[in-house]
Amino acid sequence: MSEKRKIGIAGASGYGGGELLRLLYGHPFVEVVWVTAHQQAGQRVDAIHPHLRGFCDLVCVDTSANPAWDSLDLLFMALPHGESPRLVSKLPASLRVVDLAGDFRLRDAALYRKFYGGEHACFASQKDFVYGLTELQREAVQKAHRIANPGCFATAILLGLGPLIAEDITTGTIIVDAKTGSSGSGAQAKAGTHHPTRDASFHAYKSFEHQHVPEIKQLLYDLNPRWDGGFVFQPHSAPMVRGIFASCYVTLREAWSSSAIQNLYNKAYGTSPFVRLVQGSPNVLWVRGSNFADLGFVVEDRQLIVFVAIDNLVKGASGQAIQNMNLLFGWPEQTGLLIPGACP
Ligand SMILES: NC(=O)c1ccc[n+]([C@@H]2O[C@H](COP(=O)([O-])OP(=O)(O)OC[C@H]3O[C@@H](n4cnc5c(N)ncnc54)[C@H](OP(=O)(O)O)[C@@H]3O)[C@@H](O)[C@H]2O)c1
Repeated sequence: MSEKRKIGIAGASGYGGGELLRLLYGHPFVEVVWVTAHQQAGQRVDAIHPHLRGFCDLVCVDTSANPAWDSLDLLFMALPHGESPRLVSKLPASLRVVDLAGDFRLRDAALYRKFYGGEHACFASQKDFVYGLTELQREAVQKAHRIANPGCFATAILLGLGPLIAEDITTGTIIVDAKTGSSGSGAQAKAGTHHPTRDASFHAYKSFEHQHVPEIKQLLYDLNPRWDGGFVFQPHSAPMVRGIFASCYVTLREAWSSSAIQNLYNKAYGTSPFVRLVQGSPNVLWVRGSNFADLGFVVEDRQLIVFVAIDNLVKGASGQAIQNMNLLFGWPEQTGLLIPGACP
């Protein structure tokens, strides 16, 4: 590649933005040229993210600053919900965008209001975004110009359930019990993420109202419009920093053998470099810091349990965002991302 593509990151001071920077410094075809922050605007990136010292001497400008937009080839947005639409309404239509927030994932404005609260600053632009669960939407992502990157829970759960729903082999209500680490709530300390109350704590939250439910159901219906929609999702807060672990409890229409389920997942993910099929349970430790999604299962007659482990900040956010960027630019999707997990 003769000239590197120029990349901007809105929200570079946060956890998602920091992971974008960490991974993009290992990417051969891009150069990060513009970074923004809000409260930390004016600070150097390596003062905010000391682990990037020696890699980045950029200074974060305020997100409201307008660069020469045509100097960018692609903009990542890693902003709190509600801020992406404000920024999108200012962007030239020609600029490629990958949004890590939830603002452009849902096609139904009423569902957006219900699960995210408040009005959307430019819902008309939602139609310009393709939902970027890469492995299940690869062709759409390749043709896209703007990507709504999936949520972290949604990524793990959809990777587990997508092939089963697409093949229409389930019946009745699917129950998903999933756990997340504290970095899923972002860099701002809150009562629920403060170390003394978070360390050694384990609890359920957002029963029946987690904001990832509608995007999960939306894609499952896209994969199989005949799916009956029975789906219960219970998130839990686990005493770890990184990681999503999803256990999906599924009733099959008929008895399946373990080798038949293995074949089904092999068919779905055989050409997907980041989905690794494992025996039995995966482990969040095996994928920590990496873009891999490890998927295992156990089956007995008509009862199937599927386990998926990802790093919420990588496959659940910034890694998948870069995987989607690679496809937008026509590069192999694993470019810059083939890094094994940091285990232990
Ligand atoms: N964390 C995850 O595991 C994860 C996974 C998937 C998707 N996401 C989504 O990705 C987005 C970013 O998440 P995160 O975890 O990186 O959050 P974060 O750590 O809280 O970072 C938020 C970023 O947005 C900036 N910001 C805050 N308020 C702003 C405002 N009013 N206007 C403009 N910029 C503002 C912050 O700047 P300052 O620091 O300077 O204030 C920071 O750069 C969220 O929408 C989140 O839901 C997160």
